Amino acid sequence: MNKTIVSPSILSADFSEFGKAAADVDASGAKWLHMDVMDGSFVPNLTFGPPLVSAMRKKTKAFLDVHLMIVNPSRFIGEFARAGADGITFHYEAETHSQKYLTEIRGLGLKAGIAIVPSTPVSVLEEVLPFIDLALIMTVNPGFGGQKLIPECLEKVKKLVKIRENSGLDFMISTDGGINETTAGSVKEAGADILVIGSAFFRNSDKAGFINRLQG
Ligand code: DX5
Ligand code: ZN
Repeated sequence: MNKTIVSPSILSADFSEFGKAAADVDASGAKWLHMDVMDGSFVPNLTFGPPLVSAMRKKTKAFLDVHLMIVNPSRFIGEFARAGADGITFHYEAETHSQKYLTEIRGLGLKAGIAIVPSTPVSVLEEVLPFIDLALIMTVNPGFGGQKLIPECLEKVKKLVKIRENSGLDFMISTDGGINETTAGSVKEAGADILVIGSAFFRNSDKAGFINRLQG
């Protein structure tokens, strides 16, 4: 069993101090940094694009875990790859030809991820599982940090663990939204390999202790 990975989400950082956020992530011992790209169309919020990924690339050695919450994400795969993303995850709901673009992401030497919102069943991922490195099960409806985890979504994580066992594939299972020290136990128990955590990480004054406890 691999160690749980915590991927702090920059969405909850102080937007006037991204350099400090990068330093805080590195100092905490977290090895991943989650970057939420929103277009105001796929989700009702706007954040940032490739320039911030490229800026963060210069500030941290962390694995840049880019989560695209945008329509037709295939338009921007090349740009995010050039900006320095290590992994690109896009939404199943936002792109018709998932298999094609997951293969494109891998072809660029990056980890390829597919995400689903709470109302999308895991069964739709079946055909693309051989082409992914990561499946992201949203545990809130995407768009904003600080929301409450929807416990029913953990059943989807459990289902996906079973599907993975039966398929013999070895993709990672990531979870995103409403994860904190109270809910993390049930998320890990469900079988998540990666916990994306925004507000609970950035508001914690003992970030190293937080990472230590959650990755243990
Ligand atoms: C939600 C984003 C998440 C968000 C999680 O749409 O995809 O990555 O930053 O934030 P918390 O941990 O505060 O729910
Ligand atoms: Zn996210």
